[in-house]
Amino acid sequence: MSTLSFPRPPLADEVVALRPWRRADIPQKFAGFSDPLCQRFSWPSAERFTEAHVRRNLEDEERERLNGEALNFAVVDVAAREHVLGGAQLYDVDGARSCAAVGYWLAPHARGRGIATRTVRLLARWGFERLALARLELTCGPDNTASQRVAERCGFTREGMLRSHLPFQGVRRDTVMYGLLPGELD
Ligand SMILES: CC(C)(COP(=O)(O)OP(=O)(O)OC[C@H]1O[C@@H](n2cnc3c(N)ncnc32)[C@H](O)[C@@H]1OP(=O)(O)O)[C@@H](O)C(=O)NCCC(=O)NCCS
Repeated sequence: MSTLSFPRPPLADEVVALRPWRRADIPQKFAGFSDPLCQRFSWPSAERFTEAHVRRNLEDEERERLNGEALNFAVVDVAAREHVLGGAQLYDVDGARSCAAVGYWLAPHARGRGIATRTVRLLARWGFERLALARLELTCGPDNTASQRVAERCGFTREGMLRSHLPFQGVRRDTVMYGLLPGELD
């Protein structure tokens, strides 16, 4: 797919807005993602996570956007757009197959009030309408109950278990595969 552009105006509902990451967000992104739950479920490397990774990711993510592979968003408070609640991405964007995947994480203070569900709904709707996706995937670890609840609340169907799906923190991990088709978003 050709270069991806961030949605204009930015995706938002009455609670959350999704905007590009900025260099000024690096300390908030590092603090939020350093939380043990993010590290357990969303940090695939066996290396210790540091602020240098966040800085490098910013450059990698821009390259992915230019290559048409992914769009990475800061999830922010709609009333205070400098206040980072977490991160979300449309990734593995495949124009030929009209498919993509959605991912997300939240800082601990942002959890437990439906923020991830709102975020996934915004990204899914935009992906179906503007990227003409025919299928959106959501994958997570078999023990990630909160993430599976987010998928189910958004209307995703649990399609199966991918055994030994990916290298994760030095071992191979199974993955639960969820899929959402146009018209199925809850
Ligand atoms: C996944 C995540 C984004 C969900 O955040 P959230 O929107 O605040 O979700 P909630 O805390 O409201 O929880 C969603 C559901 O899971 C349930 N849940 C939350 N933590 C749980 C746990 N440890 N065990 C079982 N259920 C849990 C909640 O009760 C809620 O259920 P409901 O839909 O019946 O109300 C957040 O937990 C997170 O950032 N986790 C770390 C990173 C991560 O796992 N990212 C996803 C990788 S696939």
